[in-house]
Amino acid sequence: MSPRTTRVVCLVRRPEKEPAPGDFTVEERPLPPLGEGQLLVRNLYMSVDPSMRGRLESTEKHYTHNFTPGSPLDGRALGVVEESRCPGVPPGVYVRHQLGWRERAVLNAADTDGADRIDPQLAPLPTWLGLLGQTGFTAYVGLTRVAALRPGDTVFVSAAAGAVGTAAGQFARLLGADRVVGTAGGPDKCALLVKEFGYDAAADYRAEPVRDSLARMAPDGIDVYFDNVGGEQLAAALHALRTGGRVALCGMMSQFGGARRTVDINHLIQAVLKRLMLCGFIVRDHDDLRPEFEQQVAGWLAEGRITTRETVVDGLENAPGALLSLLGGGNVGKMLVSLGDSG
Ligand SMILES: NC(=O)c1ccc[n+]([C@@H]2O[C@H](COP(=O)([O-])OP(=O)(O)OC[C@H]3O[C@@H](n4cnc5c(N)ncnc54)[C@H](OP(=O)(O)O)[C@@H]3O)[C@@H](O)[C@H]2O)c1
Repeated sequence: MSPRTTRVVCLVRRPEKEPAPGDFTVEERPLPPLGEGQLLVRNLYMSVDPSMRGRLESTEKHYTHNFTPGSPLDGRALGVVEESRCPGVPPGVYVRHQLGWRERAVLNAADTDGADRIDPQLAPLPTWLGLLGQTGFTAYVGLTRVAALRPGDTVFVSAAAGAVGTAAGQFARLLGADRVVGTAGGPDKCALLVKEFGYDAAADYRAEPVRDSLARMAPDGIDVYFDNVGGEQLAAALHALRTGGRVALCGMMSQFGGARRTVDINHLIQAVLKRLMLCGFIVRDHDDLRPEFEQQVAGWLAEGRITTRETVVDGLENAPGALLSLLGGGNVGKMLVSLGDSG
């Protein structure tokens, strides 16, 4: 008999300052009966994303929706179909969807965000949430469309050892960048960036001012800044950019939580003086690029030209801890929660 309930991660209360384990709980919730065109999916992997931090707040309006105390969280996930009332999607196929942060979900197969079928022969399951998922796609869109990367460019990536950052550095190189430099928290991550992810140089932003690091790593300046962090690193990049430089504003890890907000708007005169282009983007607005992205990146993967790495935490009850760890820099590459043995 099909399961009537599922375990879900719920928000207990909005964080007062930084999120804490007590802000979350795991509860048993009913599953809706399976309707026509619907799938019952058992989740195997769940994506842990920095954007969830903003969604815990009520003040920071998110482009999807903010979480509500007493209600389940959601997010990107990958699962296997257990039961189907959708012709053409039999039990056993793997789908990506938006109803993560729970062990099982009932999905509308036809919705755009409902269930996107993936091919496990093409790449391992975690890769479909990482390099071949929204993460890799964000790096690709930011570099190719937003920053209009050109062969010969010098590229700077912040949060370079994270999910988007490890993808962005490697994509930049494969797309013809001449020099790729990055920043990350701590010497171990910096060493990995050079050894494993093809960065020419990396610097620990906690150990020295990023303006000094950039002067050393890219003495002739940078053409592209892929900004995952904002704040001091964005200000430093504005000073390092050459005339006509481009900035893809992807995210602002340093700006979560009121206490850490910094005002760097005074550095914007650099954008005037150097005719810079700064452009924010939301990856879901660029779905027309997805076929090109998948073909390109699947090709690089098949040719062994790209390294993929995940930090995997086991079990639904450890998912809130995975989010807190991600926000504190506890991951290398994509942060995932595995539910593989929970069935
Ligand atoms: N625009 C879009 O559509 C879109 C889509 C997806 C993701 N994003 C953005 O892309 C960025 C990266 O996302 P991700 O999923 O790949 O996460 P991630 O980089 O894997 O994880 C976040 C990283 O941020 C770093 N960090 C935390 N606090 C920081 C601070 N105060 N200063 C500098 N770095 C800090 C940590 O690494 P360290 O150890 O190096 O500190 C942590 O590992 C985020 O800003 C996210 O919001 C945007």
